[in-house]
Amino acid sequence: MAREFTSVGVVGLGTMGAGIVEVFARSGIDVVAVEVSEAALERGRATLTGSTDRAVAKGKLAPADRDALLGRVRFAAGLDALHTVDLVIEAVPEHLDLKQRIFAELDRVCKPDAILATNTSSLSVTEISVATSRPNQVIGIHFFNPAPVMKLVEVVRTVVTSPDVVADVEALCARLGKVDVTINDRAGFIANALLFGYLNHAVAMFESNYASREDIDAAMKLGCGLPMGPLALMDLIGVDTAYEILDTMYRRGGRDRRHAPVPLIKQMVTAGLLGRKTGRGFYTYERPGSPVVVPDEATPVADAAALADGARGITKVGVVGSGTMATGIIEVFAKAGYEVVSVTRGAEKSASVCEAVKTSLNKGVVRGKVSEDDRDAALGRITWSATLEHLADVDLVVEAVVEELSVKKALFASLDEICKPGVILATTTSSLPVIEVAMATQRPADVIGLHFFNPAPIMPLVEVVRTIRTSPETVATARAVCAALGKTAVVCADRSGFIVNALLFPYLNDAVKMLEASYSTADDIDNAMKLGCGYPMGPFELLDVVGLDVALAIQRELYLELREPGFAPAPLLEHLVTAGYLGRKTGRGFRDHTHR
Ligand SMILES: NC(=O)c1ccc[n+]([C@@H]2O[C@H](COP(=O)([O-])OP(=O)(O)OC[C@H]3O[C@@H](n4cnc5c(N)ncnc54)[C@H](O)[C@@H]3O)[C@@H](O)[C@H]2O)c1
Repeated sequence: MAREFTSVGVVGLGTMGAGIVEVFARSGIDVVAVEVSEAALERGRATLTGSTDRAVAKGKLAPADRDALLGRVRFAAGLDALHTVDLVIEAVPEHLDLKQRIFAELDRVCKPDAILATNTSSLSVTEISVATSRPNQVIGIHFFNPAPVMKLVEVVRTVVTSPDVVADVEALCARLGKVDVTINDRAGFIANALLFGYLNHAVAMFESNYASREDIDAAMKLGCGLPMGPLALMDLIGVDTAYEILDTMYRRGGRDRRHAPVPLIKQMVTAGLLGRKTGRGFYTYERPGSPVVVPDEATPVADAAALADGARGITKVGVVGSGTMATGIIEVFAKAGYEVVSVTRGAEKSASVCEAVKTSLNKGVVRGKVSEDDRDAALGRITWSATLEHLADVDLVVEAVVEELSVKKALFASLDEICKPGVILATTTSSLPVIEVAMATQRPADVIGLHFFNPAPIMPLVEVVRTIRTSPETVATARAVCAALGKTAVVCADRSGFIVNALLFPYLNDAVKMLEASYSTADDIDNAMKLGCGYPMGPFELLDVVGLDVALAIQRELYLELREPGFAPAPLLEHLVTAGYLGRKTGRGFRDHTHR
């Protein structure tokens, strides 16, 4: 029989604590909510009423249920009010000495059989537990932000946590409607160990002017389907909390440089730019605590005319290549009203690309997304050719041939001979340096990367890659073209992986390393990222879809270019690729897909 919890205490009513109070009170459990001062209590109370009022306004909570919920919460300054509760969850700032002091005090105040839990994200639960005389009743209950929404709870047991306590807490999580994963006490547990290297890397990109905050965030949302971009997430987490978590993970987690907080983060903490809670972090918010972003001096001009300043007129577009990407790109341009010249290596290839474009457009007709007239008009705009000479009068060329530098360089040298002056020459490479192909021409200022995502007709994102030789007019033209295609363009510098792959693949590689270290299972890791962070797929699901060979190749490129030891491909990934377990395409990757 699992233990019945009728009243719990929550210590610290900040970003997490106020949400945790709501979770318990919603499930019919009485809560004693504790803060350091009356002013802090008032803030916590305001957060709780704000959140429940929003739930009522959205129709997710009946007004009577809100009143009952609020009626279950008693606010108190000081820990003494916790002497009757069955369980306490501590959610004060991420400092070991503070948490140890609070646990020593809780140990003195609370009933002998009360369970003492910490919501720490990165500190050692074991070290916190030894501040008490009951370390076997101390456990980590790590909620995710926002606590009322995110389904996951990481239950962290130390080597001394009693199995009964673990079982009782797991049963409690189920009662709260949460999904728990139980793991050992290691820095960052599952989700944060995989998340924070990524967040820190995104901040480093921003700090080095690699791309704007809006573009970094849009890239991860639109390129990976994440619920929010990394910088917006830093603001939600709290920049100070993120700093402490990174710093602890760096010190506890083997001094991985990727966790050493980027200097900008410390500067923001010092300047009081803590994110949503202070109304300003990477973005500016309507007021402290508000999720609504308002424009500030760094907000890009929304004025299309200003953005297109210097852009060249594009009406006719050449697409070179006959693979998946070329096929999708031809369709995208033709549908958007551009005249398209498709160049392949022969009539047979042209015929099959033509067939593929027709099939895809017909699917659009069946789904009611394209009218028959529009389909016919789009097909009518495409000319099929097998010679590059037909590109003599186009305004833009998009190259999507095989991912081999020598092939691309030779092609760009030919385009340089054939195309008229002023043409924009674009490559869709996902991993090669754009500057290499640019320098194969006499006009590097006109060369740019246009990295479409697969399938091009569906994915809304294009990474626009400017090299150190690309002219502002070329960038403006690329932006204008993406806008005309209905795509979101994000502009970044010419570094391996651009934005999306550079941020995504190291995280996937880290997940493989975590599995390899037997810290957790593929299922639990996938669940943690989906339920704790709102990712559409877990890392192993995604790796099996992308292809392990593709992931390994990208990870190797990143490692070679950045020489970051933490980017070294996981040995398990190498072994699976060697064994031919490449993912769905071969029937087996991290999972066996043959019987599904
Ligand atoms: N922010 C997140 O996304 C997130 C997610 C999961 C876990 N966590 C963890 O939750 C904990 C709290 O983080 P947060 O982001 O909510 O911090 P926060 O700064 O938003 O809130 C901390 C609260 O603790 C209060 N406090 C400080 N000293 C206290 C004391 N002695 N007694 C009572 N209250 C006290 C502060 O007044 C403040 O309201 C940390 O351990 C953090 O790592 C944070």
